Amino acid sequence: MAVSGQTTNQEAADDPDVLRLLEDLREKSGLKRDELLSRKIAGVLRQWPVIERAARVDDLVARPHSDPVWLAFVEAVTVHETYFFRDPGQLAVLAQDILPAMLAAKASAGRRSLRVWSAGCASGEEAYTVAMLALDAIAERGESLAAWSVTVVGSDISRAIVARAAEGIYGGPGLNAFRRMLVRHAVHFEDCGDDHPGRRRISGRLSELVRFRQHNLMDTDPPQTGFDIALCRNVFIYFDDAAQKRAVATLHRGLAAGGFLLLGVTDRLAPGSGFVREASGTAVIYRRAGTS
Ligand SMILES: C[S@@+](CC[C@H](N)C(=O)[O-])C[C@H]1O[C@@H](n2cnc3c(N)ncnc32)[C@H](O)[C@@H]1O
Repeated sequence: MAVSGQTTNQEAADDPDVLRLLEDLREKSGLKRDELLSRKIAGVLRQWPVIERAARVDDLVARPHSDPVWLAFVEAVTVHETYFFRDPGQLAVLAQDILPAMLAAKASAGRRSLRVWSAGCASGEEAYTVAMLALDAIAERGESLAAWSVTVVGSDISRAIVARAAEGIYGGPGLNAFRRMLVRHAVHFEDCGDDHPGRRRISGRLSELVRFRQHNLMDTDPPQTGFDIALCRNVFIYFDDAAQKRAVATLHRGLAAGGFLLLGVTDRLAPGSGFVREASGTAVIYRRAGTS
């Protein structure tokens, strides 16, 4: 029996409509069947009039993964937890080793361009974090940003969350997005004033470097190719093995040869993935093998 309108794990697991939508989600987005997802789906179903339920489930399952109604459903069941400078150990390797060496190699080859992809970026903090580190690395070389072409692309399956990321407004009630950010990076934000009291907006050069778009990692094509660095952190934990394999293949196609792939702390790639692990202590960093 459900208590206070909540669905128990067992009820969700036994509900045939939940099971159909779990399977549909797994096929179209890679999200694996688990208790959290079952409960979230059951929560969505509870909002629907019982008499319409079967027809609405049929309708959802029949829609392609790019359909706005299906995407609105995904948005209701996905987890978007993120914050600036998440996984500081890995970001230290990026800031102290990878970016300086990469910028030096590019400068000496006369190709001052840097392309970064934050895949599964949620509300954008990860994409803006890497852009801040890229700006730091260019400044540390004593160069101006004008000498470089820097693009950071943030992508996520959820349209609503990438729209929020593009707005670039953070703070307010709830978990603090700034909890790991250093004071010196506050220069990239401005107060929203009366528009959004207590919140801060990405400003200046940072907002120009970062672009967001909706993209499903189950798609064969990446949002673009030739990325130097891709981040896909805390996304594989929601995928089953087959979905992770599809996402890794898409990330591989998006990266240039020798490009870096930064994953979440518990993620590991299977042999044959086309990536080799970088010896970077506990930071989970791979490099794309082979030629572009
Ligand atoms: C927990 S957030 C991770 C945010 C950020 N990468 C970080 O580590 O802080 C996981 C994100 O993956 C997204 N996601 C889930 N399935 C996806 C898919 N098939 N393609 C693209 N993004 C997906 C979710 O919408 C969610 O915003």
